[in-house]
Amino acid sequence: MRMYDIIAKKRDGGTLTRDEIAFAVNGYVAGSVPDYQMSALLMAIYLRGMTDEETAQLTDVMAHSGDMVDLSAISGVKADKHSTGGVGDKTTLVIAPIVAACGVKIAKMSGRGLGHTGGTIDKMESVPGTRTALTQEEFFRQVNDIGIAVIGQSGKIAVADKKMYALRDVTATVGCIPLIASSIMSKKLAAGSDAILLDVTVGSGAFMKNLDDAIELARLMVSIGTAHGRKVAALITDMDTPLGHNIGNSLEVAESMAVLKGEGPADLTEVCLQLASNMLYLAGKGDMPQCRAMAEHVIADGSAFDLCCRMFAAQGGDTEVLRDSEKFRKAKYSYSVCAKSAGYITANDVECIGNASVMLGAGRAKKEDPIDFAAGIVMHKKLGETVEAGEPICTFYADDPALFAPAEQMYRSGLMIGPDCPPAMPLIYARVTKDGVERF
Ligand code: URA
Repeated sequence: MRMYDIIAKKRDGGTLTRDEIAFAVNGYVAGSVPDYQMSALLMAIYLRGMTDEETAQLTDVMAHSGDMVDLSAISGVKADKHSTGGVGDKTTLVIAPIVAACGVKIAKMSGRGLGHTGGTIDKMESVPGTRTALTQEEFFRQVNDIGIAVIGQSGKIAVADKKMYALRDVTATVGCIPLIASSIMSKKLAAGSDAILLDVTVGSGAFMKNLDDAIELARLMVSIGTAHGRKVAALITDMDTPLGHNIGNSLEVAESMAVLKGEGPADLTEVCLQLASNMLYLAGKGDMPQCRAMAEHVIADGSAFDLCCRMFAAQGGDTEVLRDSEKFRKAKYSYSVCAKSAGYITANDVECIGNASVMLGAGRAKKEDPIDFAAGIVMHKKLGETVEAGEPICTFYADDPALFAPAEQMYRSGLMIGPDCPPAMPLIYARVTKDGVERF
């Protein structure tokens, strides 16, 4: 078999066999297939697509390119969730403790920020002392003892994805449904949970810019997971505006804790409750109304917040900042971005908001860049709200005031204020299961 022939076959619209996919992927991991040949194959896949069967085979080969975690040493049903990425997307920090407080085990591996989007592990590390790298023994023990642990993804999970994702990132081949589906599902299958809820974001801050593509991605991922014997469902959620008001690591942790204390913003709270109810449903905890009631109950009685504190404490974190967000270290400087005219906010591009927060220090421009956990943005006015001329739209936080001007330019490049109220967007557009698509 030759890589040249596999590339040519896909370039000409052919369907690859499992052996051909395995030859390419395993060869790339082993180093016998060079970057330039894998790049050519990825671009051919980007342009020609893959059948569902090819995508399923690609996922399986990628999942088996590293460790397949066996969670059977943890008793009970294990649930996981994955978001396809967003800005201000802090749902894991809320949902994981809710679901665990309802008796479903959470043994979760999460990622760091990528491009303009944030990552759970960076947010967790903004809580002083928190360790996100546990040994497998510590990880399993913590889940068995308190029901929940969230850690960084081990470098040994889906090794092919790590290498291929880095290559896609620099060869303009990220935004391709079969490649995204195989990338995400290879990691989820390897991570070992029984029930997997996918949060597929759609809108200006998401990989999927339109609903049909988001539904197609969700359908494909659900079918791959189901074929591997997992319980999988996906919610299609809006990313045309960030969830809640806060963007940036400790700012987002503070807002997540507010939701767990029953004091969070309505949009974030609602999306978290819907995601948590669906996870509980997949884990067999009851019908949807019962699962929703359970999720609401563990917020109201404080048990989800208590469990979140126990998780951070078990991982070395200082829970004082969770109880009182004023105790987080504050950025040295703040700056208000004010409206230049009165009207409705008719556009507020989420990618621009995410990029602005990265420019303030909340994310990384390069992989090795440090993060300023206190940096970020608090939005006062969001898409569809009215503003007066001169009124603050958002506040920036950073340790270096020279960062404000370029970040403001980035934020304003996606901002439009006009006379007409834009149509209100739903928070959740659809639910995709193995039985089909339910649009809301
Ligand atoms: N997230 C992933 O893990 N992989 C992708 O390809 C896109 C988003």
